[in-house]
Amino acid sequence: MLSPSRAGMAAGVLLAYAGFCGAVFDHHRRRRARVASLAVSGAHQEGATLVAYASQTGFAEQLAMQTATALQGAGMPVHLLSFEELDARRLARVRQALFVVSTTGEGDAPDSASGFARRLLAGGGHDALRQLRYGVLALGDSSYARFCAFGHALSDWLQRHHARPLFDLIEVDNGDAGALRHWQNHLSALSGGTEIADWERPRYEHWQLAAREHLNPGSDGAPAFHLVLRPEGAVPGWQAGDIAEVGPCHDPADIGRLLSHLSMDGAAPVRCDAQTVTLAEALATRLLLPEAHLATMRALPPQQLVDALSPLPHREYSIASLPQDGQLELLVRQTRHADGRLGLASGWLTSHAPVGARIALRIRTNRSFHSPADGRPLVLIGNGTGLAGLRGHLKARALAGRHRNWLFFGERSARHDGFFADELAAWQAQGVLERVDLVYSRDGNALRYVQDALRERAPVLREWVEAGAAIYVCGSLQGMAGGVNDALADVLGEAGLRRLTEQGRYRRDVY
Ligand SMILES: Cc1cc2nc3c(=O)[nH]c(=O)nc-3n(C[C@H](O)[C@H](O)[C@H](O)COP(=O)(O)OP(=O)(O)OC[C@H]3O[C@@H](n4cnc5c(N)ncnc54)[C@H](O)[C@@H]3O)c2cc1C
Ligand SMILES: NC(=O)c1ccc[n+]([C@@H]2O[C@H](COP(=O)([O-])OP(=O)(O)OC[C@H]3O[C@@H](n4cnc5c(N)ncnc54)[C@H](OP(=O)(O)O)[C@@H]3O)[C@@H](O)[C@H]2O)c1
Ligand SMILES: Cc1cc2nc3c(=O)[nH]c(=O)nc-3n(C[C@H](O)[C@H](O)[C@H](O)COP(=O)(O)O)c2cc1C
Repeated sequence: MLSPSRAGMAAGVLLAYAGFCGAVFDHHRRRRARVASLAVSGAHQEGATLVAYASQTGFAEQLAMQTATALQGAGMPVHLLSFEELDARRLARVRQALFVVSTTGEGDAPDSASGFARRLLAGGGHDALRQLRYGVLALGDSSYARFCAFGHALSDWLQRHHARPLFDLIEVDNGDAGALRHWQNHLSALSGGTEIADWERPRYEHWQLAAREHLNPGSDGAPAFHLVLRPEGAVPGWQAGDIAEVGPCHDPADIGRLLSHLSMDGAAPVRCDAQTVTLAEALATRLLLPEAHLATMRALPPQQLVDALSPLPHREYSIASLPQDGQLELLVRQTRHADGRLGLASGWLTSHAPVGARIALRIRTNRSFHSPADGRPLVLIGNGTGLAGLRGHLKARALAGRHRNWLFFGERSARHDGFFADELAAWQAQGVLERVDLVYSRDGNALRYVQDALRERAPVLREWVEAGAAIYVCGSLQGMAGGVNDALADVLGEAGLRRLTEQGRYRRDVY
């Protein structure tokens, strides 16, 4: 559950924030080439530093890659590994390791590390880690109750097994730049004082909001919108499952009020994010100070005011299209705060930004939610805006001619909430979707959810899994993800579901 602090921040009240979020999304080709050169396959090279990552949505993986690249650049042998491939035998052979791990769910390990967490952290197991010196970079978000819980669990476990820390665990709150610089300083020290350049701050690319369609007029649910964005330059590369990070802007009306309160000219030119823009445009992208502090700002020249304010943090959205579409599509639910204000980014995307507006967006790869590499059957499960991520996969599977696809999708009513209903029907008619279960929660006498459909379809679902199917889940963490997990455990057995997770056949992108 998110605490009120996050909502408060989004309401436009300033808390200090530094918005480092890793390097700009790189092209898959370059990225894969780099991974290949770093990840010395099977065996751990004698003396190499292990850089192991556990990532749910790709940020820890990106930082692990940057860590490995920095060390390698300083002449150190490095072995980059996902927690999926990490076990006690491997660890016992390692003398120095750096762990870059995020926390997901409600204080849980990322799915790719759930096997590791269950086997090793849950007690027993391996206790001969005296030879190991290690550092932990724990990614999290302090608005969650169990901040960086997996990083701390890992660190406790390492210490219980007598591994020795190289330095104290570093917590990274929401991509905090200071914490990442702290990590870089340690990397520099580990590599004998080699200068390591500050990691490139991610730059947004410029996209144009080409179209916006309200998908559910008359719905009991909050408005949901299909957005079409076109790049100002060439269409960049991404894969189904990847994430768009959007740089939000405040409601222009709020900026107008602020400027008049400060008696400042919104048209004054300023430099902001390496561009010349108007003061009004620059302030729209900045975390604004509480009213009480505004008086101190009044005296500042426009440029100093902009320089004094941190950029707004990005928001993440599952990408609902492929580069082959020539456009990036999103499915965005409009959130509204208790005081009636729209959510920061969803308000910008669904209401404040006019069609034609420039949208700041960068793409982050989310390897753990990429489509299966082969043609195995695919079961896609989701609700609400989770259809965005599933649609990307369906498009990719259609393109690859892989038609053993089964969609379970939940929304409120067929009449108002049939997101992409025509497209889904066309895919079904063409055979791209072999099976479809649309579950409308409010159309019957009792609430009915996707997990109910999973239970009803248990015998066929088991057949699909026996035939090698992978299961992908996208949508709400609250309610749906847990409900689906319980239903799958009932249908496939706890051990069966665990096996699927460890084989990378049960993947989730839930939020
Ligand atoms: C990996 C990932 C993928 C995502 N994909 C999508 C996607 O495809 N589509 C999509 O719409 N969103 C998606 N989200 C959620 C999205 O990133 C934003 O969190 C969401 O749009 C709200 O942001 P905001 O800036 O509009 O709201 P903020 O101003 O940040 O306010 C949001 C917060 O306010 C509170 N709040 C306000 N209104 C409500 C409400 N009606 N119900 C519950 N809480 C409320 C909650 O605490 C909430 O976290 C995704 C999130 C993640 C992490
Ligand atoms: N982490 C973040 O950054 C962040 C930010 C904003 C929002 N969120 C969350 O993101 C989600 C957005 O989802 P959305 O707006 O696209 O969809 P949604 O509105 O939450 O729900 C879509 C469908 O899911 C159903 N549903 C409700 N409870 C369920 C359960 N326990 N199991 C299965 N289905 C259930 C709803 O049914 P009924 O309504 O009929 O019960 C509805 O039919 C919300 O959970 C929201 O809280 C996260
Ligand atoms: C659904 C969801 C649940 C999360 N749960 C937690 C949590 O319980 N504790 C925490 O500290 N951070 C939590 N986070 C924040 C992530 O750890 C943080 O965004 C991190 O940078 C993600 O890294 P990754 O992309 O490598 O997974 C959560 C994020 C999401 C999207």
